[in-house]
Amino acid sequence: MRSSALTLPTRSLASHASATSRLSADITDRPVASALPTRLRPADLLRLTDEGAEDVLAGRYDHLLPPGGAWPPQERWATRLSADEEVDVWLISWVPDRSTELHDHAGSLGALTVLSGALSEFRWNGSELRQRTLSAGDQASFPLGWVHDVSRAPDGAVAGPLDPTLSVHAYSPPLTAMSYYEVTGHGTLRRSRTVLTDQPEGDVN
Ligand SMILES: [Fe+2]
Repeated sequence: MRSSALTLPTRSLASHASATSRLSADITDRPVASALPTRLRPADLLRLTDEGAEDVLAGRYDHLLPPGGAWPPQERWATRLSADEEVDVWLISWVPDRSTELHDHAGSLGALTVLSGALSEFRWNGSELRQRTLSAGDQASFPLGWVHDVSRAPDGAVAGPLDPTLSVHAYSPPLTAMSYYEVTGHGTLRRSRTVLTDQPEGDVN
């Protein structure tokens, strides 16, 4: 590369600096939320999952549920409760030993409400995985960049029955892709694959 290629005319530098400062000001002044790919906020998604859970419990989605309450015992199962251009809402049933693997939700925000039973979540906090248990009635929201592994809580994790373990999830914009990750031996994440999917928390039967 010729050294002249690195030399900008003073006027260009000045205008570049000015443009950069304008850009910085724009970015600083703009509410962070306006940069998100959806007008819905985590609080909206939490409310939607809460309402969805209430509707499931009230029997308003009985026509979408397994006949006779026979939840599949071996595989995760899900049904879409509602969908539009902005948000998908799903009901998921969870079974033992079927974790989602460590994943993100690509460009979608997410939220969940646990209806019954309990979930165990391992979330990447930037340097390690942190575990928490989400019991019936608990809620969680997932901003962009949230990487977690979710499974049905193990027996004994909470008082009360785990059957069925049900949660309502909302994604906005509707989920279209997920990336999967591995934790490396030196405290970082390695993205192992990205899949196109509209299935909540990974592919289910
Ligand atoms: Fe997830």
